[in-house]
Amino acid sequence: MTDYDRLTEELRALTDGVEHKIANLANASALIHERLEDLNWAGFYLMEGGRLVLGPFQGRPACIEIAVGKGVCGTAVKEGKTQLVPDVHLFPGHIACDSASNSEIVVPLRVGGEIVGVLDLDSPWPGRFTEEDRDGLEKAEKVIEDFLAR
Ligand code: SME
Repeated sequence: MTDYDRLTEELRALTDGVEHKIANLANASALIHERLEDLNWAGFYLMEGGRLVLGPFQGRPACIEIAVGKGVCGTAVKEGKTQLVPDVHLFPGHIACDSASNSEIVVPLRVGGEIVGVLDLDSPWPGRFTEEDRDGLEKAEKVIEDFLAR
């Protein structure tokens, strides 16, 4: 189980005082990919022109644009809440970027009350993500939102 308090501290230490958003997102995806077990993809999609566009990530090349309301990521934006998906094959409209993915969690990121992107994690293991992961990632989310707001 990931120590999310530690992860959140590490994320804060890594990004504090850094004004480059893309650099911070790149390091955040690398840190999350390293600290959580059994991931095959960890990264960001950012809102641009009314749709999600691929941002910094770790993993296989992924689809570039996702419309709001489409897939797990677009649903997280449309509903404005974290999507915890134990089995992506049962999620209507799931977008399969990597056939190795079986479960997924997507956390929306907000700046000034507006959704500016999502954090997306995929795992080859069905049911990989739990309520503890949701709570922990929503803590880490606050650090990401802080540097996105600077
Ligand atoms: N599975 C996502 C697409 C992005 S990839 O997982 C990297 C979705 O359904 O939105």
